[in-house]
Formats: sequence, structure tokens, C-alpha cells
Amino acid sequence: MRRPELDRTFALWFSSHRYSRRLHKTVRRLVPDSDVRFLLSESGSGKGAAFVTAVAYRLSEQHRLIDATLAEFKLTHEQLLQVKKRMRIEIEAGLRKKSHDHAKVKMLPTFVRSTPDGTENGDFLALDLGGTNFRVLLVKIRSGKRRMVEMHNKIYAIPIEVMQGTGEELFDHIVSCISDFLDYMGIKGARLPLGFTFSFPCKQTSLDAGILLNWTKGFKATDCEGEDVVNLLREGIKRREEFDLDIVAVVNDTVGTMMTCAYEDPNCEIGLIVGTGSNACYMEEMRNIEMVEGDQGRMCVNMEWGAFGDNGCLDDIRTIYDKAVDDFSLNSGKQRYEKMISGMYLGEIVRNILIDFTKRGFLFRGQISEALKTRSIFETKFLSQIESDRLALLQVRTILQQLGLDSTCDDSIIVKTVCGAVSRRAAQLCGAGMAAVVDKIRENRGLEHLDITVGVDGTLYKLHPHFSKVMHQTVKDLAPKCDVTFLLSEDGSGKGAALITAVGCRLRDAEHN
Ligand code: GLC
Repeated sequence: MRRPELDRTFALWFSSHRYSRRLHKTVRRLVPDSDVRFLLSESGSGKGAAFVTAVAYRLSEQHRLIDATLAEFKLTHEQLLQVKKRMRIEIEAGLRKKSHDHAKVKMLPTFVRSTPDGTENGDFLALDLGGTNFRVLLVKIRSGKRRMVEMHNKIYAIPIEVMQGTGEELFDHIVSCISDFLDYMGIKGARLPLGFTFSFPCKQTSLDAGILLNWTKGFKATDCEGEDVVNLLREGIKRREEFDLDIVAVVNDTVGTMMTCAYEDPNCEIGLIVGTGSNACYMEEMRNIEMVEGDQGRMCVNMEWGAFGDNGCLDDIRTIYDKAVDDFSLNSGKQRYEKMISGMYLGEIVRNILIDFTKRGFLFRGQISEALKTRSIFETKFLSQIESDRLALLQVRTILQQLGLDSTCDDSIIVKTVCGAVSRRAAQLCGAGMAAVVDKIRENRGLEHLDITVGVDGTLYKLHPHFSKVMHQTVKDLAPKCDVTFLLSEDGSGKGAALITAVGCRLRDAEHN
């Protein structure tokens, strides 16, 4: 209503004083709350058409530029096959003695030599450190006819200043949480065997010793890298002088997940995590694990696949946004594959693209808000909501507004498209890695066809509306000789740590008798 443009002939008539006065008066009377001004248009229709064309052109040009940027996130079948091939090369490098020290995918032996057989029995404590929270669990496992697993657990937050403070502070905090849990359960004097799920790369020489190679994800506590984390925990317990624990096993979350799922399905010989971080483990032939003596049977290998690409072998598919996320992370240059896949980083990739689009004037009217400058604003939970098919565009807009991003409907469409491009690539890359693993197992066993189950855990996998489907399809496409079933792990790391502890206790007892 503010600038109605009028036809030229009409304008002449209009300019007659009497007509315009009457018109103004009538309009004021009809819409007293609006301030309506009449502006005389110079060659309105011609210019107007030109403006309409220019705006349409700008929008189509914008779409073209947006599409061109997002095209970098679209990987072809060929590119994904390449990723699978490169993963296989890195797997071999990690397993071989001569290349192990320089290998980026570390292929760490776990000293877990078999999956559960149902004879596991007893009461165990489990600790779970490595995601967003720290958990302490009491796990009761019964074998035979009364076969069951009962769990009690309590979740404790780890403040960021503890994650990134000194090692002593971190382990003192952990021990104080354990103390609280033992009081809560009334089992302080019991000295139960304990399994420690510690979800970081550890060089193990036995089931109950693990030297932390380097922190990943959001952790950075000092004086821990290069140390045996079981010792750090024992020292923390000693410092507190309040209770004692019998630490039997240190376990990666992938291994815990595999064991939990294998307890239900003996075909499960792979563990996968797609949560804050991403990683996988699987049962490898002892003869291929050159870092451990002996050729008989199998051992679970913690791949630490998050570090895939740290030698530059994925650089051709990394975008400027991946590089920006890496540059500003706690461990720049490290965990490059993980940074393209997992929950802690996907939101950051999205945020970097949105900042770029805003700077280029495609979004948010070109205004970079405080919210958009906030790191980690797009948590997995929000990405998952934004991409949900059941959500109308208006609801996407509401979510963005809740995050402090004042968006129009057009903005919301673009944000959703960006999220889709980033999460789809993540799922495909993860699938390409998994395809390499299943084909390796198939070849190890000299099979034309392999049926295998993967135990999976992690918030991104569980919450995201499309991630799992895209990942499964990619594995199918890239490893057509394998039938892969994905089994969602319920409470994987805690239960798995207890199962491994049970096996550890049995072996230890057998040695002593
Ligand atoms: C990181 C850790 C790895 C863990 C994964 C999933 O990649 O280095 O040990 O399994 O996150 O939590």
C-alpha cells in the first residue's frame, strides 16, 4: 500500500488537484491507522518489468551459486569407491609392523579375543568416559537359564574446565563421581571388578593397560597423553583414600558396543560409533595383526578410523568449510575423517557454510548475528530436528528463531538444504569406510559372500532422520558381496565393558588355578 504505482495517463488526471485531494481524504478515512503516501511513477511499467527481471535474475544467480557450493558436498559413486579403497590402504598400513608407527589409522589391538558366549556371570562396575557425559554403572550379568543383564547407572556432567584442565583434576573428578555412585548404591566396601570404557585412542599391551596416544573430541586435560589411563585412575583412587577397585579392563566404546550386540547376535563382529566422534572396531585375524605375537584366532582391533585422512589422502574431497572447522578445533590437522562425519563437527560445518552464505548476501539479509558467531550452536539434536521430514517449513523457522537466528521462509529452505548436503555426505563417507571393513573381513575369510552384523551406537546415528538409511545404502552399493545387518546397541558401552570384564575375570581365574 505504501507505493502504488500509477499508469501514466491516469497520472495526468491524478495530478489534477481536486481528484488527488479527494482520493487522499477517502483513503485516510478508510484506513486511519495506515500512513499511505502516493508517489508518482516515472515510466512505471517499463522500469517495473526491468526490476522484476533483475530480482528474478539475482535470485536465480544466487541459487546457482548456492548449488555450486553445495555441489562440493555431493560425492559420486566413483569418489566413494575411492574413499573405500583408500581406507583399505590405511587399514593395511596400520596392521603392518613396518608401517604401523607412521600409520594414521592406528588399528590398535584390544586384547579382546572373542565375543561373549553367554557364560559370563557376576556383578561388575563400569565407567564410561568419552562422550558428552561421564557415567558410572553397576551391571549384574547372569548366565545359563537365568540369563539376563540388569543395570543401574548414574550420569555425571564433566564441566569443560575439567575436560581441559589438568589430568589430576580430571581423574579426581571421576573418582569423586564413583564415590558418589558407590554411596548411592550402598556398595562402597564391595571391591567389585571394574571395566573402564575410555573412548580415546589407547595403545594396549594387555586388557588392563592402555596408554593414551592423544586426546580427541572435546578433551584436552594435561599430563595424560603418553600415560597408562588405568594407572591414572588407580592413582586417583589412592589419592582419595576412601575405597579400592579391581580394574580388570580398559575398553573403547566401539568394542563395548560390538560386545553388547554380540551378546544378542553372535554374527556381530563389528562395532561402530557415530556420536560426538566416530570410530569402528572389528574382529581381525591374529595372523594379520603384526603388532601382537601369535597367529591363532582373532582379536578385536580398535581402528581409530577418525584419523583417516590425516596424511592428506582425503584432501581432494575436503572443502574450505572442512578446513575452517579443522583450523579452529582443539586438535587441528587431526581426526579429519571424524570431522566430516560426527556430531561434534557437522553442526560446525553447517555454521561455516551459513556464515559464508550470509557474507555473500544469500541469507539472513546479509547480517551475521551473534547466534551465528556462536560455536557449536547446531547440536546434533537441532540438525536432526531441522532435517525431519515431518516438520513444516514454519517449524524449521521456529527452531532457527529459538537458536537466535531470525530467518525468513527462504532462509529456512536454504538452511535445511545446507544441513541435508552436509549430513548426507557424512553418512556416505561413513558408509564408504564401513564398506572397506566388511569387504576386508570377507576377504580374510576367503568368502564369495559374507553375512555380518554391525553393532551401532551414537547420538547422530540414533537421532538423525536420514543418516542411518543413507549409510546403509552406501554400504550396499560399495560392498555388494556383503549382507550387512545393523543392530542398534542399547546402552552399549557400559554393558559391553561389563561383559569384557567378565571374560577378563574368567581368564585371570583360569591363569591362577
Ligand atoms: C573418537 C575417539 C575414539 C572413539 C570415538 C567415538 O574418535 O578417538 O576412541 O571410539 O571418538 O566415541
